[in-house]
This record gives sequence, structure tokens and C-alpha cells, in this order.
Amino acid sequence: MQYNLNKEDTHKKTAFWQVGQKLWLLISEEKKIIIIALIVVIINSLLSLIAPRLIGHTIDTYIIGRDYHGVLVFAGIILALYLLSLITSYLQIRLMGGVGQRVLYRLRNKIFNKLQSLPVAFFNQNKAGDLISRINNDTDKINQFFSQSLVQFFASIFMMIGAMIFLLSLNIRLGAATLSPALFLLLITRLLSPWVKRKNLTSSKSLGGLSSEIQESLNNFKVIIAFNRRDFFKKRFQEVNDNNYSDAIEAGVANNTLTPIYGLASNIGQLIVLAYGLALISSGHFTIGLLISFLSYANSFYNPLRQLAALWANFQTALASWDRINEILVLENNLPLLENTPSVDNNAILEFKNVNFKYPDGQEVLHNINLKLSKGKIYALIGPTGGGKTTTASLMARLYDPTAGEILLNGKDIRSYGDEERTKKIGFILQEPILFTSTVKENILYGNEKYSSYDNKQLENIIAKAGLGQLLKRFDKGLDTKVTASGDAVSLGQKQLIAFMRAILRQPEILILDEATANIDTVTEKLLEDILNNLSSDTTKIIIAHRLNTIEKADEIFFVNSGKLIRAGSMDHAMEMLLHHNRNS
Ligand SMILES: Nc1ncnc2c1ncn2[C@@H]1O[C@H](COP(=O)(O)OP(=O)(O)OP(=O)(O)O)[C@@H](O)[C@H]1O
Ligand SMILES: [Mg+2]
Repeated sequence: MQYNLNKEDTHKKTAFWQVGQKLWLLISEEKKIIIIALIVVIINSLLSLIAPRLIGHTIDTYIIGRDYHGVLVFAGIILALYLLSLITSYLQIRLMGGVGQRVLYRLRNKIFNKLQSLPVAFFNQNKAGDLISRINNDTDKINQFFSQSLVQFFASIFMMIGAMIFLLSLNIRLGAATLSPALFLLLITRLLSPWVKRKNLTSSKSLGGLSSEIQESLNNFKVIIAFNRRDFFKKRFQEVNDNNYSDAIEAGVANNTLTPIYGLASNIGQLIVLAYGLALISSGHFTIGLLISFLSYANSFYNPLRQLAALWANFQTALASWDRINEILVLENNLPLLENTPSVDNNAILEFKNVNFKYPDGQEVLHNINLKLSKGKIYALIGPTGGGKTTTASLMARLYDPTAGEILLNGKDIRSYGDEERTKKIGFILQEPILFTSTVKENILYGNEKYSSYDNKQLENIIAKAGLGQLLKRFDKGLDTKVTASGDAVSLGQKQLIAFMRAILRQPEILILDEATANIDTVTEKLLEDILNNLSSDTTKIIIAHRLNTIEKADEIFFVNSGKLIRAGSMDHAMEMLLHHNRNS
């Protein structure tokens, strides 16, 4: 599966009704509140619709008849109607505001959970900044649609239908003439909508690009300063910021194109009422009071229509954002769990059978690899930089699946193990250790339920028992030493020590160390070696190292390069292969 979200061909257009269906799913739990809000909206619209008719009646009966008591009574009634409609307006805003926020909350959760379920390959291909923008900005556009636009949408439509009924029933000919400019609007709206949505999509996309750029330059700030390349990132930022600026302006223009046209139609409608209405009055077919009611209804028809224009733009923005969110939600983890896989007795803890692998969009890194690892043995992978050692180890831990062939863990396809079971069996210390902003303790206990409730004293005992006590001494505040994920509160070597303790305490069956000692002094390295040697003899160790002294104890050495994995036999032979490679390249 292709995981790159910003590739044009992966962008699937969702049909209008499908979007409607999906959006409905998001709010289906809010059904009750939405129905109440709709009832409130209907009451509100009815109140506003009755008022003009009452005004017309007051003019024709009481003002013309000079009955001032009647005028006062009706003025009071109309005022009461307006106050009631004010209250219902507030109620509606409150109700739908809550719905919008809850949708936002659920949607963000949903995306985040989806992201968590996706494999490493997804994160290789997408920038965090863009993903953050989708989680933050795009969901908020949907929230705005739900909290502000949805009910107003219905309110406007309801109001328009009501006003239309009043207009046509008061005088069908005048009514029809008043409504005629609206037909023209319908046509224009239909024609412009796809363009408006496209402009909004582009604008959201470049907002995502802007986030990615910010993220990248913040992450690499030290390098930027060290190489004095502030100008370079400044220029790049300027570019994406410029793009975002012009895209946002274009979207803004697109979103507001319709508003003046709607205003024009509204004015033409009123003009028609005035001209035609006055003509009707002079021929004695109409009264002043009716004309005033009529004008008011024409207003009640065209005002919501004008609002609809703005809402329509809102809706297009929400649709564009939904497309971006949906791109994530429809992704499936391409590392599925296999069921009913047979178990073979292959006498190996880990076996590669005709394994091929290539990264998406990359060349083949591993070609037809066959490999059998026995329980409790120590294996070493050596080879030139970029030769495929980390890739081989990543396949062993199922960060990726082979593009062909299969990998057996304890004689069973590695794809048949659940994430929990697999990660319990396989400990992987990455070349670049990944830690979380927290304390040493939290980082050591990460993913280890066994000791999660232990206090510092208990945990220190466990650490001492595992022979890791000396390592903990490398941290001045012990378990409570603060760690920052991207900062330098601890050194790279210290990070590797934490990753090491984390892996050892989990007591995995297979322990993979990818350059785990590359940043550690020779004394501490010796310590790690002793710890490794003292591990249960059942633990299979796979050590990737550039420094050959770290793999002296290996039972078997493999040389990994240009898609091949060759048994090196002895240490000397391994050395020779490396030297030979270096001489030839
Ligand atoms: N995430 C990735 N996406 C695409 N290609 C990758 C990715 N990771 C590695 N590669 C490519 O795969 C090849 C093998 O890389 P790998 O990291 O396995 O090498 P290595 O032997 O671990 O090197 P080193 O000694 O520098 O750690 C390289 O050509 C590299 O460019
Ligand atoms: Mg590597």
C-alpha cells in the first residue's frame, strides 16, 4: 500500500453522498441534541416569519383605522416575539457549539488512534508537521462547520421555504416575480462550488506544508546554527509561507465570490417588490400593509440566502478538510495479522526463507536471503555503511514485512504473532534510540507492564539483580534523571544506556542491538559486554557493530552488503571481507 498522503495519485475524491454519510456517522451520537437544536431553529424561524404578517395587519387595520390601543397591543406582541426569537437563537448556538467540540474531540482521537495503528513505513513517507496540521487545523474546520454552519444551514433553508410560502400565498404573481433572481443564483452556485472546494483544498495543503517546514527547521535548529545556514531555512520558510499566503488569499476570494452576487440578487428582488407592488396598489389590488409585509418577507427570503452563500463556502472548506482527514482514516495497516498459520519444526528461533525487501520507492535492499538463527546463540551482522544491516534487523522485529519470502519466529510465520506477543519476544535497541520526554524511570519502564507499579527502590533492586546497577550510576539523579526526547538533557551514549536497560529488563527471547555501543566509552562498553554475557543463555543475541572488538564472542558472523548476506565463518575472514570491500569501493 502506498502511504504517501501528499502524492497526487493517492488522493481519492470522495463522492458527495459518501461525505454526507461519513459526516453523519460523526454526529450520529449527537442525534438527540441535534433534533432539539433543529426544533429550536424551527421555532425561531416561525417566530421571525409571523412578525411581518402581524406588522402588515397592524398597519392595515389599526394604523389606517387610527386605533392606537390596537397598535400598542400588537407592538407589544411583536416585541415579545422578537425577544423569544433572541432566546431561541442563543439556545441553538449553545447546543450546536457543544456538538462541534465533541465532534472535534472524537475526530482527533480517531485520527490519532489510526496513526498509532499504522506501520513504520507510513511515518517514513509522511512529515510529522503535515500530520499535525491535519489533526489540528483540518479537524477544526469540521468543528466550525458543525458548531456554526450546520444548524444555520437548516435554519436558513427553513426560513427561506417559510418566506417563500408567505410570498406566494400573499400574491402569487408578485411572489413569483420576487423569487425569480434566486433561480439564477442556484445556477451560479452549482457552477462555482467545485472551484471553491479546490481552492480550499490547496490552501489546507499548503498550511500542512508550512507546518512540515516549521517542524523540520525546529528539529534541526542546532545543525542550522552550526553550519550557519539560517539564511537557507529562512529562504525555504519564506517560500512556503509565501505559498501559504497566496493560497489562503485565493481560498478567501473563492469563499467570498458568491456573497456580493447574492447581495445583488437580494436587491433586485426588493426592487421588483417595490415597482410591481406599487403598481398593484395604484390599481387597487394591494394594500400598503401587505406591501410592507411583502418587503419584509422578501428580506426573510434573501437574507438567509445570502447567509447560505457564506455557509456554502464553509461547507466546501469542511469538505476539503474532510478529504484530508479521510486520507488518513482509510489507510489500513499493511502488516496484517495472519491466522491459522502452520507451525513447522525447523529447529531455529528465527528463520529467513527467500526473503526479498525493498523500501517503497526504493531499490531492492535485500535479495533472496536465507538465514537460520538458533536459540541462545550470538550472531553478528557486519558490513559497509548502507549495506542493509539495520534493514535486516528491522525485518526481524517486523517493522516491515518482506516484499517476498517469509520470516519464521519459533517455526511460525512472524506475521501470525500479535504486536504484544511479538514485541515481548523481540527486544530491539535501535541505532538511534528513541526516548520520551520524561524521566529515566519512565523510559526504562516503557512497554513493560511487569514492573509498571514498582517504586524507585523496588526498581533499583530489579536493575541491580539484572546486573545493570553500574549503568544507572551514569545518571546523576538515578531513576529520576530528566530526559528530553529531542534535547540534550542526556548524552547520546546515555540514551543508548537507557535503551539498553529498557530492552534487558523486558527479558526478550531475541535481543537485537543495532550499533548499541557506538557512542559509549570503552569501559562502559566492556560493562555492557559482561551484562550481555550474563544474560540467560536462552537469549538469542544479534549484534550489529562497526567496531569488530564488540563481536569477538559471536558464534557466527554475517557480512551484509548489496542485497546479500554471506556467512563470514571466522572473525578473520569477516575482517578480510570488510577490508576487501573498502579497497574496492
Ligand atoms: N526508511 C528508508 N526508506 C528508504 N530507503 C531506506 C530506508 N532506510 C534505509 N534505506 C536504504 O536501504 C539501504 C540499507 O540501509 P540500512 O540502514 O539497512 O544500512 P545499514 O547497513 O544499517 O547502514 P549503517 O551501517 O550506516 O547503519 C540504504 O541504501 C538506505 O539508503
Ligand atoms: Mg544501520
